Amino acid sequence: MKALVLAAGKGTRLKPLTNTVPKHILPVGDKPVLFHVLNYVKEAGIKDIGIVVSPESGPYIEEAIGTGSEWGGQITFIVQHEPLGLAHAVKVAKGFLGDSPFLMLLGDNLVQEGVKDFLGEFHTSSSDASILLKEVPDPRAFGVAELDPSGKVIHMVEKPQKPKSNLAIIGVYLFTAEIHKAIAQIKPSWRGELEITDAIQKLLEMGKVIRSHLLQGWWLDIGSNDGLIEANRVVLDAFLERDIKGKVDKQSSIVGRVEIGEATEIENSLVQGPVFIAANCRIKNSLVKPFTNIRAETVVEDSSLERSVILENCQILKIKHLANSVIGKNTKLTGQDKDPGEACTEQSRRIRLFIGDDCKVEL
Ligand code: G1P
Repeated sequence: MKALVLAAGKGTRLKPLTNTVPKHILPVGDKPVLFHVLNYVKEAGIKDIGIVVSPESGPYIEEAIGTGSEWGGQITFIVQHEPLGLAHAVKVAKGFLGDSPFLMLLGDNLVQEGVKDFLGEFHTSSSDASILLKEVPDPRAFGVAELDPSGKVIHMVEKPQKPKSNLAIIGVYLFTAEIHKAIAQIKPSWRGELEITDAIQKLLEMGKVIRSHLLQGWWLDIGSNDGLIEANRVVLDAFLERDIKGKVDKQSSIVGRVEIGEATEIENSLVQGPVFIAANCRIKNSLVKPFTNIRAETVVEDSSLERSVILENCQILKIKHLANSVIGKNTKLTGQDKDPGEACTEQSRRIRLFIGDDCKVEL
């Protein structure tokens, strides 16, 4: 069994951040989203891992992963030169996959349960594909599966206008080498992509058995700003533990599950968990409220923030009520000496920003 992790997507909905950093290495909780996905592969005991990257994302992802020894296996990078669909990515990876069965994961999707049990079920069945499904209120943005009353997959369609079920296909798939024969027979969809959903439908038409597993826990797709903020909220809430390595002065208070990295200094501030603050940061005269993720080397002074993701080496100075925001690395935000909205309610004073890397903003 091999694993194929797809990390070539352009991250269009996360621009301008993704102009300079691939979405797969944006942080969710204490680590890049791609590292969570690789942890699922490790937990499932798979050691031969291919990561499909784009020419643009490749160098960043390779640098972030390094030797890959953390995942205890062999990592092969495969370049998909054009974003022509998930089935196209499998085609590009054929040399790596050979005739092996494989687990395929989207490098920006997280599932609460991981994939170990899903894989176990596949090993004991004699199917040629297995898909994870999740009930969603509006499945039109996804691949959708139709099941018969016994739970067998009978039809699959990509982004239907009139879905026949509320079962979205989520980014976790298991295949035998039969999928390559199916991919060879499909044509690009209306969006110009070779859809993996169409390939699985083709497997059905070839008389193959497709299994499905209904996901009960959460499923997070970090493809948008809101998706990234929500994934951080859920993951910080679910996994963060209190761990204070940095220095906290007597005038500060750290409440609940807060992780503070090495050499980070907290002065005259209140931090209310769940909050992750990486190493070498300085938080001074500030209020850091729940579900905030502050990356290394960042300075926050005379500010208050909540439910936001602040990347490396930022300066957040005199900014009040920053909420539900994503700030790129090396960015400096400066506010006024006096809080401009003193007469307003806290709710109406909230500032929401989505800012890329290397910016300077004065508010
Ligand atoms: C892709 C798949 C779709 C699936 C979705 C899950 O969509 O084509 O079937 O439901 O991932 O995130 P895309 O993100 O390419 O629009």
